[in-house]
Amino acid sequence: MSERPVNVGVVGMNYWGPNLARNFDRLEGCRLAWVCDRDEAVLDRHRAAYPGSTFTTDLDDLLRDDDLDAVVVATPVPTHAPLARRVLEAGKDAFVEKPLALTGEDANALAALADAGGRVLMVDHLLVYHPAVAKVKELVDEGRLGQVFYLYGNRQNLGIVRPDENALWSLGPHDISVMLHLVGERPSEVSATGESYLQPGVEDVVFGRIRFPSGVIGHLHLSWLDPHKMRKMTVIGSERMVVFDDMETERKVTVYDKGPIPRTETYGEYIQVRSGDIHIPKIPAAEPLRIVCERFVRAVRDRQPTPSDGPAGATVVEVLEAMSRSLADSGRPVALEAGGAIA
Ligand SMILES: NC(=O)c1ccc[n+]([C@@H]2O[C@H](COP(=O)([O-])OP(=O)(O)OC[C@H]3O[C@@H](n4cnc5c(N)ncnc54)[C@H](O)[C@@H]3O)[C@@H](O)[C@H]2O)c1
Repeated sequence: MSERPVNVGVVGMNYWGPNLARNFDRLEGCRLAWVCDRDEAVLDRHRAAYPGSTFTTDLDDLLRDDDLDAVVVATPVPTHAPLARRVLEAGKDAFVEKPLALTGEDANALAALADAGGRVLMVDHLLVYHPAVAKVKELVDEGRLGQVFYLYGNRQNLGIVRPDENALWSLGPHDISVMLHLVGERPSEVSATGESYLQPGVEDVVFGRIRFPSGVIGHLHLSWLDPHKMRKMTVIGSERMVVFDDMETERKVTVYDKGPIPRTETYGEYIQVRSGDIHIPKIPAAEPLRIVCERFVRAVRDRQPTPSDGPAGATVVEVLEAMSRSLADSGRPVALEAGGAIA
């Protein structure tokens, strides 16, 4: 294996990009070679922090650099697909902020482009890399919850109100990516309802529903108009129930040994429930964004697959797009075509 560091450039340095730049800059085996934003004033805010990096307002400077391995796209959502396409076509690996694109068609085209060129394409579905989600995934995959019946996500707060993106597109990628990751199936049907109270045509609150072929149901409550700050995912199984609460510091994951008792042969007997121990597994206190960046650098260096690759990112976009159609049609269920990218 070469000792040469992986050279990374970050494009888009206003609000979120600096978090990515900081992590890539600090990672062993990685060099933040380029920092790019088309706004010179935005660049000026970061020059002192990265004296070893080259600053530019032009993405083409990065794409022309033969020593640059990968580009991180942290620009506004409508620019993700066109910029990621330029990066992949220049023969670079790409890390793209969520969501991967605005349409399933564009997202699947990017996944296909990366595949055809043997390039890494990874989407920043941050929570998929969260140690607490890894624990919940382990419990699901090992059958510790029994049969998974349904799961639901709460992502509510007062703000940040985005003018150009509704609560579904802004907050939904997090919960949808986690649900697809946990269930491991391509959804068959979705629906969504929502309301726009603050800005016409921009939903502040969205209730979404995902049906998976196995019968598992996922439910989402997404809102930036809510008194509670909630970042929670609950999974209900036939034998145990588990809650991932990202607002907690010491009990991110709680496993409830609760569930229904299978019905006995006796006719007419009520189904009884069982309420057992509550268990709090220890979760490593690692910054999820750091893990994401580490995984990307490893993928670039060792060509290792990641759980938020092009196909996974494209499925999330397909779900968002189908939910948007449902939202515009009073919650009518929208079927997702079989095939396409697999979550
Ligand atoms: N994973 C997360 O939890 C998380 C959180 C917040 C934001 N995000 C994502 O991060 C991305 C950026 O969000 P933000 O709030 O920082 O956006 P922003 O609009 O505040 O900043 C985007 C920056 O990109 C620059 N830019 C736009 N087009 C460019 C181009 N062609 N070349 C170079 N620079 C260009 C702009 O000048 C601006 O400085 C979005 O995709 C958003 O969804 C992710």
